Amino acid sequence: MNSASQTVLSGLRPTGRIHLGNYFGAVRNWVRLQDLYDCYYFIADWHALTSDYADTSRITNATFEATADLLAAGLDPAKSTIFVQSEVKEHAELHLILSMVTPLPWLERVPTFKDQQAQLEDKDLNTYGFLGYPLLQTADIIIYRANFVPVGEDQESHLELSREIVRRFNRFYGDVFPEPLPLATTTPKVPGLDGRKMSKSYGNTIPLTASADDIRALVMTMFTDPERIRRKDPGRPDVCNLFQFHKLFSNDETIARVDRECRAAEIGCVDDKKLLAEIMIESLRPVREKREQIDRDPSIVWDVLRDGNRKARERAQETMQLVRDAVKINYSGLQ
Ligand code: TRP
Repeated sequence: MNSASQTVLSGLRPTGRIHLGNYFGAVRNWVRLQDLYDCYYFIADWHALTSDYADTSRITNATFEATADLLAAGLDPAKSTIFVQSEVKEHAELHLILSMVTPLPWLERVPTFKDQQAQLEDKDLNTYGFLGYPLLQTADIIIYRANFVPVGEDQESHLELSREIVRRFNRFYGDVFPEPLPLATTTPKVPGLDGRKMSKSYGNTIPLTASADDIRALVMTMFTDPERIRRKDPGRPDVCNLFQFHKLFSNDETIARVDRECRAAEIGCVDDKKLLAEIMIESLRPVREKREQIDRDPSIVWDVLRDGNRKARERAQETMQLVRDAVKINYSGLQ
């Protein structure tokens, strides 16, 4: 089959600015897929409600920030449909219908349910909506009859559930949905400033569109080889965070040189930080400039979303007609 006739869908919860972990882990890949598939990318603002229902004040602004950064990173509204979940109400209708056929234990056994409840213990996540998180995610995917979902490892159990639900729905009501497959891509390791996985919840991120001065300041706080205490101690690039970043940003020649000079203690951690910061600043320049352009005219973001919402709605409405017919609850003839 021609790949352009196949649909890819992925989404991101609005947590604000995109960081380098999001970029190398997902967004860079979304940008590439635009030329290969019919792509739908969206901001999952209803999903933000599942954990942030008590304070919703940041969600709309985070949706703006995430969309602006996605555009700066290279998502192109001429190639992909870029939209906001809550503006396509059909996701909610499909979620409701799916909830009727989903056995509770299927949701209760999804590992992220208990894991997240334990991790975010300051929030009461013993709610109907939170249990239904992967079911809403299923609706997000199948309402576009998506074939592929580029997701990280942490989301694989959700996608597994989506396929089980599709099989159950199709068995009851006929073949409406394709089973969505994960689109596995090798993603590089992106450590945070402190060496743990880069994540908003650890406060160790570097924003994709950080200013040059912010990049310099953040790189200065990076953890390096803990055993390299003095300048003349030889370093171990394989356990050093900085070196991971060189692998993401530097050319082969620089990587080889830093590797050699660090091991021989010819270059110190501070020298290396200065070098790395300038390389990152240069490499991220086009993204940062695009973001600055958007900030001078924020209506770019709202225009992209308005247009994307409309396109997404068309496809979702088409699917919902199929669903209502399949379930035999369709009164559209009355109108
Ligand atoms: N759960 C995803 C995340 O936390 C966001 C998401 C919501 C999503 N719906 C989706 C991802 C559908 C892929 C497909 O990152």
